[in-house]
Amino acid sequence: MLSIIHKFVICCRCTNTLAFIRLALQSRQNKEQRAQFSASAVYWVLCPNLERGIDYLRDAHLHKGLAFTLQERQVLGLQGLLSGGVKTQEEQVAICKYSFDRFDSPLNKYLYLSELLEMNERLFFSLVATDVEKFLPILYTPTVGLACQRFGLVYRKPRGLFVNIFDKGHVYAVMKNWPIHDVRAICVTDGERILGLGDLGAYGMGIPIGKLSLYTALAGIKPHQCLPIVLDVGTDNEELLVDPLYIGIRHKRVRGEEYHEFVEEFMQACVKRYGRTTLIQFEDFALPNAGTLLNRYRERFCTFNDDIQGTAGVVVAGVFGAARITKKKVSENKFLFLGAGSAGVGIADLLVDAMVEEGLDKKAAQDKIYLFDIDGLLTSKRQSGLPAHAKHFGKDLEPTKDFAKAVETLKPTCLIGASTQGGAFTPAILKQMAKNTERPIIFALSNPTDKAECTAQAAYDNTEGRCVYSSGSPFPPVKYNNKTYYTGQGNNSYVFPGIALGVIAAEVTKIPDSLFLTAARSVADMCTAEDIDVGRVYPPLSNIRKISFEIAKKIVERAYKLNIASVYPTPTDLDAFIQHHIYKTKYLQYVPELYTYPPSEYKTKSIEQISEEHKLLIK
Ligand code: NAI
Repeated sequence: MLSIIHKFVICCRCTNTLAFIRLALQSRQNKEQRAQFSASAVYWVLCPNLERGIDYLRDAHLHKGLAFTLQERQVLGLQGLLSGGVKTQEEQVAICKYSFDRFDSPLNKYLYLSELLEMNERLFFSLVATDVEKFLPILYTPTVGLACQRFGLVYRKPRGLFVNIFDKGHVYAVMKNWPIHDVRAICVTDGERILGLGDLGAYGMGIPIGKLSLYTALAGIKPHQCLPIVLDVGTDNEELLVDPLYIGIRHKRVRGEEYHEFVEEFMQACVKRYGRTTLIQFEDFALPNAGTLLNRYRERFCTFNDDIQGTAGVVVAGVFGAARITKKKVSENKFLFLGAGSAGVGIADLLVDAMVEEGLDKKAAQDKIYLFDIDGLLTSKRQSGLPAHAKHFGKDLEPTKDFAKAVETLKPTCLIGASTQGGAFTPAILKQMAKNTERPIIFALSNPTDKAECTAQAAYDNTEGRCVYSSGSPFPPVKYNNKTYYTGQGNNSYVFPGIALGVIAAEVTKIPDSLFLTAARSVADMCTAEDIDVGRVYPPLSNIRKISFEIAKKIVERAYKLNIASVYPTPTDLDAFIQHHIYKTKYLQYVPELYTYPPSEYKTKSIEQISEEHKLLIK
């Protein structure tokens, strides 16, 4: 009987149903049933989420390993399912750290962390919180790239949703299969451009999983509110199509109208299932689709593309940071980009917004930005024409393919590399930058390290140590003229988790680019005078939780000003408002503290005595 009730209760989790069952049981006269009821009542009071025994070990949200107290083990029915020793959460974290460090290969470290997350969520996130900088390269780039390539081997159990093109017409039904109702953030990829690795199809699932684990690790967004999704529309990767380990559909990538109808159906299904303010982050879509989808959905859905807007946010944060060093406004610079892909043009667009906020008109701001791609300088006169997404940056100049010459003639003060061409900023180009301006800004953003347009050391050496440098991949500290410089890494992680936290908290309806500018300013404002002194344009990544929290506050503030927040009344205490959304990594106590009342000092009269007194009264 009890087990039936238990299952029933778990299924419906409805207070009325619980009350009904309790009443039904109370009316039973049988002694055993009454005893059973009282046990279940105690259990019900003690364990509001109504899981039982082994469920606590199967569910990563509830699992505490050997940290279940003796009392919990007895009350929850865990006694014997765990070995006798009891450990604190801190002891467990220390053991996990030790285990993690014993693995040599990054992929094995990744697998260890994945298994820990699947087993015990709070322990995983408390471990990561001990040293975010150490765990970040394992949870995300570069290791996550390896994990995606080997996803057929890594894949154990579903940690996200696979929606494939053959589900077209039934996408909402598929989404309903995800067991959690309170999803606030979705990260979705179609796997076509996974990092720098190309089309990995359904193996791309590692990306939304990794990205959303950073939502929690770096901003404290509750993990159960995050849903990783792959839109599996096939793959054009011939190797995967014949790979026996491949987990996706074996089909050439579907494109064109059918693809766009499928994505539209997916967007509608997200809103129908989880509401209009569900955040949908697009990740690692290939360029034509990335831009098209962003433009199609940015006004109608709460969505952003991290490769375009997140990158732009973090790089513009770096430019704001650099402005604190060069003591020049953004609009007092002239920018030359090498690379006019999704990263380059996204950054250029946000720089225009930043200059407009400084008072320039849009055309004047665009005029300060020059872009160079594989076909040379973007000019209206070049034979190959202009890429559609970058037309507005085409200049009325003679075409050239000589980048060094462009640096000499255009005299930019800021050089931004997003070209995937390692070493493209040659010593001669860097020396020219040092001639162009007193404090040249050099951002070599291409990843991984060997793709960086120049190293930090090369930048300092060839500009007499006068440059302000930042890169996409981390570089060790640089020594120049007996001074050590710690250059910044333009890691998107500075920006997207904080934005997501603010967007979720205020239940924002859409995400205008100005929110990325807001985030960029917050990051730059968090650079201390010491950071600036050693050449850092970003605050240390070890402060990321604090940075994300501050960004979230600013995002909420701005969202109310822009009238895109939908939680009312408007919060007055922003700290408390954001804090309310933060995931707590500390284990919950499943058995509440029990307490007793003090003994009464009064001795009551006997019933007989009262009865005598009553008789007297009635007379
Ligand atoms: P993409 O493929 O969309 O664009 C690459 C651009 O470089 C294209 O415009 C292409 O024409 C140009 N290009 C290629 N070879 C060239 C050459 N020899 N000379 C001149 N231009 C050339 O790639 P996406 O997404 O824009 O990324 C570019 C780089 O930026 C990647 O290495 C990526 O890792 C990096 N990146 C860094 C980020 C960060 O630091 N936070 C964030 C996003 C991207």
